[in-house]
Amino acid sequence: MEQRYSDSELASLGLKADRLPGHVAIIMDGNGRWARSRGLPRIEGHRRGVASVRSVVEEAARCGLRQLTLYCLSSENWKRPPLELELLMGLLKRFVVAERKLLMEQGIRLTSIGRTDRLHKGALAELQKTREITAGNSGLNLCLAIDYGARDEIVTAVKDIATKVRAGEMKIEEISEETISAHLGTAGSPDPDLMIRTAGEMRVSNFLLWQLSYAELWVTDVFWPDFRDEQFREALKSFAARDRRFGGLKPELAASQSESAQH
Ligand code: IPE
Ligand code: IPE
Ligand code: MG
Repeated sequence: MEQRYSDSELASLGLKADRLPGHVAIIMDGNGRWARSRGLPRIEGHRRGVASVRSVVEEAARCGLRQLTLYCLSSENWKRPPLELELLMGLLKRFVVAERKLLMEQGIRLTSIGRTDRLHKGALAELQKTREITAGNSGLNLCLAIDYGARDEIVTAVKDIATKVRAGEMKIEEISEETISAHLGTAGSPDPDLMIRTAGEMRVSNFLLWQLSYAELWVTDVFWPDFRDEQFREALKSFAARDRRFGGLKPELAASQSESAQH
């Protein structure tokens, strides 16, 4: 069964249910540097990073988050050595098989975004199987971004919309922000409220460019293999203290400004 924190448990961790993000997206970076700093091959960093994934997924479910999107492989990561990619495909395949039991126990639904045509067939088949098995779960939506690139996703959306316009199924004037969102791989998901990047890099590396418009950003120097539930809660606490304005004013300031604007 899904083990959710009670309000008092959340409070003892310094968290509050109504100050939690609904959707957290993570750029899991620094596996190579973690391994290098220990004189280990890069793949050891990726391997160890799987334990971090497990820890963060369980914590996200316990906190009652709606969605966790993890950047597992970017479109650009195909530039890496074939052996590293081979090993990453192997890890992905093993992960989606090994986690089935836990995902079912915790009511987690596994989904994915990104291209599928370049993935190794065996990994793709197991990924699809886990997606199907967990499709009816109503807890956390764990979305894996695999062979994902935001620009590629936007190009595909533009092509799909243009095709509909050409076929007379849609008018140009009807194209709105919602139309674009609905044609992305993330269609139906809320935009991320918080984006975490590990290993200190201050960039988005082609991740969810459209969807991150108003996400709060949190970057830590900790390498992904060392990032666990504790560091995740630290990010959640930072998010809780943020003041999101979405281009407007703070509510109390908005009230006083509208009064003074009348004078
Ligand atoms: C992130 O770690 C995992 C993937 C991109 C697959 P890296 O492999 O990018 O680790 P660094 O950035 O080289 O340390
Ligand atoms: C981003 O990390 C992609 C993933 C974490 C899957 P990279 O390590 O590929 O990003 P850059 O190359 O440092 O921008
Ligand atoms: Mg990296």
